[in-house]
Amino acid sequence: MFDWKKIKLVMAPVEGYTDVRFRLLCKHYGADLVYSERINANAIVRGNKSAMKAMEMAEAERPIAMQIFGGKIDVMVKAAKMLEEKADIIDINMGCPAKNSMKIGACAALLFKPKKIQEMVEAVVAAVNKPVTVKIRADHALRNALIIQDAGASAIALHARYVKDGYSGKADWDLIKDVKKELKIPLIGNGDIRTAEDAVEMLKIADAAMIGRAAVKYPKIFYEARELLK
Ligand SMILES: Cc1cc2nc3c(=O)[nH]c(=O)nc-3n(C[C@H](O)[C@H](O)[C@H](O)COP(=O)(O)O)c2cc1C
Repeated sequence: MFDWKKIKLVMAPVEGYTDVRFRLLCKHYGADLVYSERINANAIVRGNKSAMKAMEMAEAERPIAMQIFGGKIDVMVKAAKMLEEKADIIDINMGCPAKNSMKIGACAALLFKPKKIQEMVEAVVAAVNKPVTVKIRADHALRNALIIQDAGASAIALHARYVKDGYSGKADWDLIKDVKKELKIPLIGNGDIRTAEDAVEMLKIADAAMIGRAAVKYPKIFYEARELLK
């Protein structure tokens, strides 16, 4: 059984950065959970070389969440099954606002399709014996979080910024508070944690604090946050 109570500090998936070496560094500094970058489910199923590279992991970085994205439920199921032996958690990306991903009905496009969210999460949960999590954004956050919970997910990461804002503007931490109040499964809060002190603040409103850009620039943030939490 995966013990979510032990998960406080989380390294976010950051495409182009969160490879094995970087994730091991985050672990070294005290991250409790690390994520792979998003991997295209279709590329996994086809055995694409870059997908195989993105799936590489080291035993020392466990627990690791491997993140997949795609618009087709059957392909997502196949990819999740191919990853389940390696990964401790299968995470579904429903947050990336890249136009080419949204065009194929993947990533943040799903936030606007509640029925498809339900079907995709239910199908992946039924297919694998590992916990399934979903990373979402602020758009329809409460509605989507409840659907994801009811579909059997083990936890949700909420990047509290709207799709239209990309990576600018301010993350809405009040929304994280509101969603947390309604959820039974753990909520990982994400967006604008810039310092170790911010991570401690996030832990007052969410079950875990997920750090993206600040940790890419300064992975020692995990060590500093851990010291503050002692
Ligand atoms: C360059 C870059 C790449 C990203 N790649 C991913 C990704 O592969 N999967 C994902 O779910 N989020 C991805 N994100 C979003 C981050 O995980 C995180 O949600 C976002 O940066 C907000 O957190 P922060 O304010 O701590 O950076 C990416 C963000 C950036 C800036």
